[in-house]
Amino acid sequence: MKRILFLIGILPFALIQCESDPRSAAERRLDERVDSVLALMTLEEKIGQMTLFTSDMDQTGAFLRPEYIDDIRAGKVGAIFNAYGAAYTRRLQEMAVTETRLGIPLLFGYDVIHGHRTIFPMPLAEASSWDMGWIRKAAQVAAAEATAEGLHWTFAPMVDVARDPRWGRIIEGSGEDPFLGSRIAAERVIGFQGDDLAALNTMAATVKHFVAYGAAQAGRDYHSVDMSERRLRETYLPPFKAAIDAGAVSIMTAFNDYNGVPASASRFLMTDILREEWGFTGFIVTDYTAIMELQPHGVASDPAHASELALNAGVDMSMQDGYFNLTLADLVKQGRVTEQDIDTAVRRILRVKFQLGLFDDPYRYSDEEREKAEVMKPENIQAAREMARRSIVLLKNENQSLPLSDQTRRIAVIGPLSEGRRELIGSWSAAGDWTKSVTLLEGIRNRVPNAVVTHADGCDIVCGDDAGFAEAVRTARLADVVVLALGEAYWMSGEAASRSDIGLPGRQRELAEAVLKTGKPVVVVLMNGRPLTIDWLDAAAPAILETWFLGTTTGDAIADVLFGDYNPSGKLPVTFPRNVGQIPIYHSALPTGRPFKAEDKYTSKYLDVPNEPLYVFGHGLSYTTFVYSDLTLSAPSMTPDGRIEVTVTVTNTGSRAGEEVVQLYLRDRIGSLSRPLRELKGFEKISLEPGESRQVTFTITTGDLSFFKEDLSFGWEPGEFEVHVGGNSRDTLMGLFEVVGSRQ
Ligand code: BGC
Repeated sequence: MKRILFLIGILPFALIQCESDPRSAAERRLDERVDSVLALMTLEEKIGQMTLFTSDMDQTGAFLRPEYIDDIRAGKVGAIFNAYGAAYTRRLQEMAVTETRLGIPLLFGYDVIHGHRTIFPMPLAEASSWDMGWIRKAAQVAAAEATAEGLHWTFAPMVDVARDPRWGRIIEGSGEDPFLGSRIAAERVIGFQGDDLAALNTMAATVKHFVAYGAAQAGRDYHSVDMSERRLRETYLPPFKAAIDAGAVSIMTAFNDYNGVPASASRFLMTDILREEWGFTGFIVTDYTAIMELQPHGVASDPAHASELALNAGVDMSMQDGYFNLTLADLVKQGRVTEQDIDTAVRRILRVKFQLGLFDDPYRYSDEEREKAEVMKPENIQAAREMARRSIVLLKNENQSLPLSDQTRRIAVIGPLSEGRRELIGSWSAAGDWTKSVTLLEGIRNRVPNAVVTHADGCDIVCGDDAGFAEAVRTARLADVVVLALGEAYWMSGEAASRSDIGLPGRQRELAEAVLKTGKPVVVVLMNGRPLTIDWLDAAAPAILETWFLGTTTGDAIADVLFGDYNPSGKLPVTFPRNVGQIPIYHSALPTGRPFKAEDKYTSKYLDVPNEPLYVFGHGLSYTTFVYSDLTLSAPSMTPDGRIEVTVTVTNTGSRAGEEVVQLYLRDRIGSLSRPLRELKGFEKISLEPGESRQVTFTITTGDLSFFKEDLSFGWEPGEFEVHVGGNSRDTLMGLFEVVGSRQ
């Protein structure tokens, strides 16, 4: 039977040209191959394809629970995650291909989030580079390594917009802005999938978590989400749409509810928006046990009810709870779900297996030779270092404290993150081996082998006591320069890692203050998974580098920046609040009826903290200086089908070459609804030699001015618009233009 199946799978079909069929010949052929398999399947086998189980790890390596092995052999599993390695995946694949009735290959999924073995910067750090080419490249390298280890499918990119830094998963995304988030989402999808899913070094992407997970109430993970549909469409949906338009073949549901309906049971989200509005043709997988969780959510009374809700809302594959296996066959008998809907789900899943080439050769990705050659090869490590140095944000640099001279004789590296190795690969380190990452101390020693580099932790990251402070201070006193490494532990961000206080942990502040009091020049290196509340540090320290968690090459990449081998070019993709009370705080807020006026009490403000954040969205300094001038518009007004070109001159007025992210923001002054004070609508990263000037031009069309109106129709309105261009979301040059015509 298996042979018959493969024959049918690869038989060239006679193509009957059908005028009204919008599919290409290749798509038709693919669908025919899918249908040829589906036609042979029993209901149980179909449900098996809709089931995803995890592999496990113990001291001895990877293993699969005996009951899952039985399920694979019985054709009750279509996909396995957390199994990787060419040999191991080949073993599991053999079970599916040689021991099941139909020999349908398994799909191997994994959270390849920011690198596979060679770990790249955490996603929020990569987003800080605003460097689309390198972000794409990072995903390409990850896919090349992962596919060499038998993987077909990554649970990435995570595209959740996040405006609450208490939420630990802010580390996994691209920050607060839907425009930047959409650009990055598309690059990551293209990086993972390439233009040919069947290529051996590309893998299927999963956009997650659909949707609004980043808006969990009070920043507490898995908490409820309540927001207007306009906010959903304007802020949270765009990166998903961008990823789907870029070709993503799967999407993962979120754990949270949206306005009371859990995402994994939401017909509105999965069917109305994803399928009907957007025409998504890939498959929808739930998040981990999300169908089961419909019970504690309080919308399903038992497993059958949960599966019924999920399938009927649009889920195609269940992750880990096994609820589809357990209940769907009976639900079909009872008429509560239809076999047609099951067929549709299975078609979508098989389609991706065909696209990956698994029906042509189920073992094509499990290649030990390729695995040896690809994993952590020097070019990959080099790419990770390039991405890492581009992800660093220079938050403050008073009196040009940085870069350090490589002639500095005595450097003290102080603080709990100076030798931290585990932290560097962050919370979603997947198959990354943290023992291979380069610490800050090592990076500095590698860079200046002739300097005397001393070191004291002062305390551990949790920093519960001051026993080590005296030694840290002594070490600082004996140095010419102190590099002070502060921040979070890897487990303080990521999933299930929300914090209500997002300051430096424990007594790290006291440690910093003691070291700063020595009067030595101090350069702070922060490592953390989220924006931190550090206004006191900004007031006290002359120089601060935000390095997030930079992955395998952390220490070398930070040394590149500390000593000026690379001139920092990162810009914050998320606002840094002064304190937790300011949250949510983001650049694209709406105006109020009582805008801030210092002298007027009854205007929008706090009694105890300014309205302004500590660091605005888009902020990031360089070792050189960029001056913006001559903002010009190609015309004072435009018609609806016209365009306006906005040109600005950027000059490198310093003495080093550098890169700058030129940012364009728009504001609709008077609309039928309040419109944000600033909305990011364009950016370009440019590179300038000392003294060099460059003109940067952005084109604005009504597409950039459109928004969801009160009735949720999408369109532009005539009127006056502000255009702002600058190196961050606050310090900009402004121009004005008008859109003429009657409202759309
Ligand atoms: C996370 C997902 C992840 C999945 C599989 C879940 O807990 O929310 O982002 O892809 O686990 O590891």
